[in-house]
Amino acid sequence: MSSSQTEVATRKEAPKRPFDVERVRADFPALHQDIKGKPLVYLDNAASAQKPRQVLDAMMRLYSHDYANIHRGVHELSERATKAYENARLKALRFLNAASEREIIFVRGTTEGINLVAQTYGRVNVGGGDEVLITHMEHHSNIVPWQMLCEEKRAHLKVVPIDDRGDMDMDAFKKLLGPRTKIVSLAHVSNALGTINPVRTVVELAHERGVPVLIDGAQAAPHLRIDVAALGCDFYTISGHKMFGPSGVGVLYGKEAVLEKMPPYQGGGDMIASVTFEKTTYNRLPFRFEAGTPNIAGVVGLGAAIDYLTEIGLDAISAYEEELLDYGTEQLRSVPGLRIVGEARHKASVLSFVLDGIHPHDIGTILDQEGIAVRTGHHCAQPVMDRFGVPATARASLALYNTREEIDRLVSGLHTVRQVFGLK
Ligand SMILES: Cc1ncc(COP(=O)(O)O)c(C=O)c1O
Repeated sequence: MSSSQTEVATRKEAPKRPFDVERVRADFPALHQDIKGKPLVYLDNAASAQKPRQVLDAMMRLYSHDYANIHRGVHELSERATKAYENARLKALRFLNAASEREIIFVRGTTEGINLVAQTYGRVNVGGGDEVLITHMEHHSNIVPWQMLCEEKRAHLKVVPIDDRGDMDMDAFKKLLGPRTKIVSLAHVSNALGTINPVRTVVELAHERGVPVLIDGAQAAPHLRIDVAALGCDFYTISGHKMFGPSGVGVLYGKEAVLEKMPPYQGGGDMIASVTFEKTTYNRLPFRFEAGTPNIAGVVGLGAAIDYLTEIGLDAISAYEEELLDYGTEQLRSVPGLRIVGEARHKASVLSFVLDGIHPHDIGTILDQEGIAVRTGHHCAQPVMDRFGVPATARASLALYNTREEIDRLVSGLHTVRQVFGLK
């Protein structure tokens, strides 16, 4: 991943103490259990990651001592909860290197972040005959909201092809970026292939034509240092649960000038300045986009997850994971009949593969008997499966707490899978 760091960010990170995986593992209670009588090897991190004590403690503390509804209260508990919630916004601001808390909107996760942009920015700016540009490697959550918008507006969804390695075709991208393109939306890191997209170049090219860019950062946030100022993107969205925080919470970053011009998403409490039956005026940013009582404890937990990642340092995490991914790639290649799906030049954390003659679901089920958790299926990226001519893959996805020994357990588990199927 280090070679792609220049793509990702230029912001300097303070030097941290050396990365110590055993110390990290000690923070995650869920990792220390047996599954089917064997120590758990958790390799389903791209679907959702485990939570460190620091996140669990922060949520427990809020619910045990500091909990009430936020923003509206004058009493002590409401003030404490509001402070904890708004502190998390500042943490998210620093994590993404946004310019102001007005640019940080708490949402349910990446899916809601993308839907919010499609339903607000998109509905105002995309009209009949216009185009929305995505890539062939998107998660369904970065396809379907745009399809819905295009259907409503009679606009067209255009798709940048990917090559056999799983890299997006930049020549095709330049050609597809046309006068009718109203927004580009793409993953920073592909969940099905692990490809790290050249998002900075994409933003530069799109901006040359005045086209805004949304980056789906769901798979980047746990692995790469994100710097929206350096990237220059208009929107960037992340999910708490993939970055060791709770589920049901995430962040949508939007450039203030762009957000200011967008209509509200949902109506309700907190997003208004005043309401009469005749007319409602809307609250200022970011509250205008946060209708109703939010996931207060989730936001606080996400803040703790951001502290956790920041304390270890994303650069240290990236370096460790890059080495682990290289090791995993090499080891998997030694398994007879195994084909890795997704061999992009820059990759993060994902090892998708198929085994000759064995359905991925069987791989997953047999590995589970060995205490090894991987995901099997289309990974909410059916077009990627179609592109590579497979119905599904098995996917081992790494996080900062995985080890070489766990990769070895995976490889030995795959040998067991082959034996069960009578393959030598
Ligand atoms: C690349 C990518 N985008 C979007 C999502 C959707 O994230 P969430 O389900 O947290 O909204 C995922 C989840 O797997 C993902 O991997």
